[in-house]
Amino acid sequence: MGLWSRKSIAVLQREAAQEGEGGLRRTLTASNLTFLGIGAIIGAGIFVLTGNAAAIYAGPGVVLSMVAAGIACGFAGLCYAEFASMIPIAGSAYTYGYATLGELIAWIIGWDLMLEYLFGAATVAVGWSGNFVKFLAEFGIAMPESLTNAPFAVDAANHFSRTGATLNVPAVVLTALMTVILVIGIKESARFNNIIVFIKLAIIFLVIGVGFAYVNTANWHPFIPANTGKFGQFGWSGVLRGAGVIFFAYIGFDAVSTAAQEAKNPQRDMPIGILGSLFVCTILYILMSLVMTGMVHYSKLNDPAPILVAVAAAGPALAWLRYAVEIGSLAGLASVVLVMLMGQPRVFFSMARDGLLPPVFGKVHPKFKTPYITTILTGSIAAIVAGLFPIGLLGQLVSIGTLLAFVIVCGGVWVLRVRSPEIPRAFKTPLVPLIPILGMLSCFALMAFLPGDTWIRLIIWLILGLIIYFAYSKKHSLLGREAAAAPGMGD
Ligand code: ALA
Repeated sequence: MGLWSRKSIAVLQREAAQEGEGGLRRTLTASNLTFLGIGAIIGAGIFVLTGNAAAIYAGPGVVLSMVAAGIACGFAGLCYAEFASMIPIAGSAYTYGYATLGELIAWIIGWDLMLEYLFGAATVAVGWSGNFVKFLAEFGIAMPESLTNAPFAVDAANHFSRTGATLNVPAVVLTALMTVILVIGIKESARFNNIIVFIKLAIIFLVIGVGFAYVNTANWHPFIPANTGKFGQFGWSGVLRGAGVIFFAYIGFDAVSTAAQEAKNPQRDMPIGILGSLFVCTILYILMSLVMTGMVHYSKLNDPAPILVAVAAAGPALAWLRYAVEIGSLAGLASVVLVMLMGQPRVFFSMARDGLLPPVFGKVHPKFKTPYITTILTGSIAAIVAGLFPIGLLGQLVSIGTLLAFVIVCGGVWVLRVRSPEIPRAFKTPLVPLIPILGMLSCFALMAFLPGDTWIRLIIWLILGLIIYFAYSKKHSLLGREAAAAPGMGD
C-alpha cells in the first residue's frame, strides 16, 4: 500500500493555509505571478532556438510550430491551473501527483522536476554566458576562453572529451547571483524579476513593432517549404519536429505553481499567473517568428543569435537595434535562471515536509522566510553543472523531463475529477476528460520526437531516483509512518 498512498486533499489544503512560524510568506500578487511566468518562459527558446528550428526543420512554418507547441502547453496549462488553485502548495506537480496517483509517482515527478528546474537553470545559464562573452567582446573586452567554456564536451556518439577550458565562470557567477537574490526574499526576487521582464518585453515589442516594417513577404513563400524526402526536414513533419525543438521556449509557465504557497490569493491568482503568462508569450512568439522569417530568408537563421541576423538583414537603418536585442537577450535569459532556481527549492521543500527528503531541506529562513537551505543547495548544484557541462547535453533533457511532468499532471486532473468530483475547484479545466487527454497525447507526441539518447538519459535519471526512494524516502515518508502507526489511514 505504501507506494500508492495518497495525501488527502483536505490535509493538503490545511497545509496550504498554514502560515506564520516556519512557513513561507504570502506576498505575491496576480501581476507578480504573471511576470514570474513570463520571466521563466521567454529566454533561450526564442532568443536562440527559433532560428535553428526555422532553418533546419520548418522554414517560415516555424510560426505553425509555435502555434502547435503553444496549444500543447495550453492543455497542460489548463490542468496546472486547476491543480494550483485547488492545492496551492509549493510542491507543484509533485504534490498534485501525491494527491492523485500515490507516493511513488509523486516521488518520480519530484525527482523528474529536477531535470526541468535545476538542469533548466543550468542550461540557460550556459546560454547566458555565451551571450555575455560576445556582448563584452563587442566593446573590446575579451575574456579568456579557458574561463568561459565548459571543461567537457560531448559528441554525437556520447563520448566525453576535455576541451582544455577550466570553468564557465560567467555561468557560475550568474547562478550564484540569482541564488543570493532568491535567499533574500520572494518579494525581492519578484521585484528584481519584474524589472528584467519589463526590459525584455520592451525589447521584444520593439523588435516586433519595428521589424514588421522591414518584412519582405517574399520570404514567407513557400510558407511550409517542401519536405526533402526525410521525415522532419521541412513539410508538415518539419513543422512538428520544429514544435518539438521549440517546446523549450514555452517551458516555465508551470514554475508559477511553485510560488502557490507565497501567493496572496492563490485560488484566484494561480490560474491568472499560469495561463496569463502562457497566453502573452504564445502571442509574442508567433509575432516574433513571423517577423524573423519575414525579415530574412529562413535558410540564414541557423545562428545562435537569430534575431540579430534578422535585424542585420535590414541594413544600417536598424543598426541601433542590435544592442537593444543583446541586452534583451541577456535580461531574458537571466530571468529564466532566476525563476527556475526559485521553482526547484520549493519542490524540495515540499518533499522534505512530507519526509521524502531530509528535514533540513524543509527549513525556512527565520528572517527572509525563504527555503534557504534548498535554495543554496539548488544554486550550488546548478552552478557546478553550468560551470562544467556543455549546453547541448542539457537542453533536451530539460524538455523531456518537463513533458513527462505535464503528461502526469494532465492525467492527475482527470483522475481526481473521477475520484473526488465533489471537491470545490476555484478553477476548472474545461471539457474534462477531453483537454487532459489531448494534453497527455500532445505532450507525449512531443516527447516521441526527441532523440533516443535523451530517452535513455531520462530512464537512467529515473532509475537513480528510484534507488534513492527505496534507500531513503520510503522509510522516512511521513504518510508511510502515520499509516504504519494507524493502519487503515493514508489512502
Ligand atoms: N522557456 C525557457 C527558455 O526559453 C526555458 O529559456
